[in-house]
Amino acid sequence: MLCASSAFAQALRPGPGQDVTEQVCGICHTVGYIRMNAPFLTSDQWKGEITKMRTAFGAPIDDETAATVLAYLNQAYGPAR
Ligand code: HEC
Repeated sequence: MLCASSAFAQALRPGPGQDVTEQVCGICHTVGYIRMNAPFLTSDQWKGEITKMRTAFGAPIDDETAATVLAYLNQAYGPAR
């Protein structure tokens, strides 16, 4: 079903920082971008993605939030998952 599958595409894996990540990383594109890229990204590359979103695209994310998001991505979608 269309609705069900698009809702599914929005949801990230549960964990500390999931809420804030869905909030700040879902502003310009769906968090499906995170899910799609997760298989390819290491911790350093996640950091680079977050920096790129902030500097190149102007994502309104402060340092503290960026750190929370990075920790979450490493934990939920990092190489160690
Ligand atoms: C200000 C808008 C904006 C916000 C907020 C934003 N992004 Fe993006 N993001 C973009 C744009 C624009 C692209 C498409 C870039 C392209 O096509 O090269 C993108 C693409 C991506 C991609 C695909 C790979 C790539 O580099 O193109 C990933 C992964 C990604 N974003 C992750 C995130 C994460 C994680 C966050 C939260 C920290 C986030 N984005 C927040 C604008 C944003």
